[in-house]
Amino acid sequence: MTPFGLDLDISVSIPLIWLSSLIVLILCYNYLVKEPWINLPPGPPALPLIGSLPFLGLDIREPLRRMSSRYGDVFTIYLGSKRVVVLNGYDVIKEAFVINERVFSGRPPIYLLRQITDGYGITSTHGSFWSEQRSHVMRVLHDFGFGRPELEERILDEIRFFVPELRKQINEPLDPQLVIQKSVANTMARITFGKRMNYNNPAFVNYLRMMNRSIELLGNNGIITLFPFLRYLPGDLFRIKRLRQDIQYLNSEYERLIEEHKLAVMYGQESADFITVYLNKINEEKDKQMTSFTEKQLRGIIMELFAAGSEGTSTTLTWAIIYMSLNQDIQSRCRAEIDAAIGRDEIPRMQHRPQLSFTEACIMETQRLADVVPLGIPHAATEDVSFRGYFIPKSTMILPNLYSVHMDPKLWPEPDHFKPERFLDDDGKVIRRAELIPFSVGGRLCLGESLAKMELFLYFSVMIQNFQFHLAPGYPVPDTQGKLALTNIPKPFHVLIESR
Ligand code: HEM
Ligand SMILES: *[C@@H]1O[C@H](CO)[C@@H](O)[C@H](O)[C@H]1NC(C)=O
Repeated sequence: MTPFGLDLDISVSIPLIWLSSLIVLILCYNYLVKEPWINLPPGPPALPLIGSLPFLGLDIREPLRRMSSRYGDVFTIYLGSKRVVVLNGYDVIKEAFVINERVFSGRPPIYLLRQITDGYGITSTHGSFWSEQRSHVMRVLHDFGFGRPELEERILDEIRFFVPELRKQINEPLDPQLVIQKSVANTMARITFGKRMNYNNPAFVNYLRMMNRSIELLGNNGIITLFPFLRYLPGDLFRIKRLRQDIQYLNSEYERLIEEHKLAVMYGQESADFITVYLNKINEEKDKQMTSFTEKQLRGIIMELFAAGSEGTSTTLTWAIIYMSLNQDIQSRCRAEIDAAIGRDEIPRMQHRPQLSFTEACIMETQRLADVVPLGIPHAATEDVSFRGYFIPKSTMILPNLYSVHMDPKLWPEPDHFKPERFLDDDGKVIRRAELIPFSVGGRLCLGESLAKMELFLYFSVMIQNFQFHLAPGYPVPDTQGKLALTNIPKPFHVLIESR
């Protein structure tokens, strides 16, 4: 018996003390980070250091869906100690990014993006630097014919290499991702530096592998953006050092290309490509005191055009092949439509699009269901703002949950089924639905939207015109659940391609 009549066993009481101090600590921590006096959007508890991570898991799409049914369309999570407001549903995202565009078009510092573009470029910049550069790049791309026939020719020229390459691999099980990636990257190469690369060029393949690695890493950005100190650990568990080496290599390649272009300009042998046009602009601006047009900025933009310009389009096309293989009847309907409108000999062009409503509906449905950039790219509030009754402080990271829009059963009944009819009216004409937002909305809207749409249409209809896609006998059926990196990437799979 102890003097106080309490039979407290030391070995029990110590853990108890620990546990209760931990609880007190967490409560205090929550009180401090959640600043209840400023009326932030609600959300799950935040733990010291790791924030809401235990409630999110590795693929955060489903956990976010559950949180939104519990806390509403606007809620707060903590990635580490970083506060993130998640926007869910079409109305909320539109209200923020379109109606309150000015306040919601910032970008938070994303450690990895900064590593990749060195703080230059468009994607990771903001303010007047961003808007000046963005509108210039858009102007240049427009002059190259974004949305016009000149651009179509550049894409079709590349497709003329793509079809025979795919034909080499018919009748045997094939994972088509690499050949698509190569071809789409080449379209970007034609636009940025005026030439294509041979599909078998080892330097080209090596280059694409580096891009793959950075995209993958960006997807795990969770970890790295949260815990920047992890990069100081010995070894290279998070492959940050590898990324740095890759980036250094790419930068030196781009510098070499820029030098080549400068020489060509000097000798009056310039080609019509992005680097040349940008170099001319640097020249025009060189007497100005403060200019955002520099070679470093050019280097950053090339890096982005390449990465952003290849990844989204090739991933979407890969999903299209998966959906077509899984839905033979839909695939046949597309093919019949193309045969009737164009035949087998002529190459599909943009001018044919009005006659290819079902085909276009399939592309839109692919973009919805594949949901290639499910969480967009994070934004930041540029000033304190009150939104839907809540207070969001300046610099808060804003995550647009595009997945919540594309999987909303109120907008798309049976959202996980591939149903192109959603985009067709009773007469079989295309309905363009505002709620399909794979390129996001507002002032930060994807800068390559019109290029991407043209590529998707041309590649898709050419593939269906020339080939038939089947499930590969003896291989598992392709998984419709992708792996979430920055983009929603199909897991490795095989299909069988038959030539017509
Ligand atoms: C199907 C293909 C594509 C998809 C689904 C896609 C999607 C997106 C999304 C969701 C964003 C984020 C927008 C935001 O911050 O709210 C974005 C940004 C961007 N995209 Fe795309 N994209 C595609 C193709 C392209 C292409 C072909 C290019 C190159 C010309 C491109 C260049 C960019 C750039 C530079 C940004 C950053 C814009 C900024 O921060 O102002 N994208 N894209
Ligand atoms: C890039 O990743 C995709 C998808 O995982 C893969 O199929 C492709 O082969 C990779 N590309 C290279 C060059 O390794």
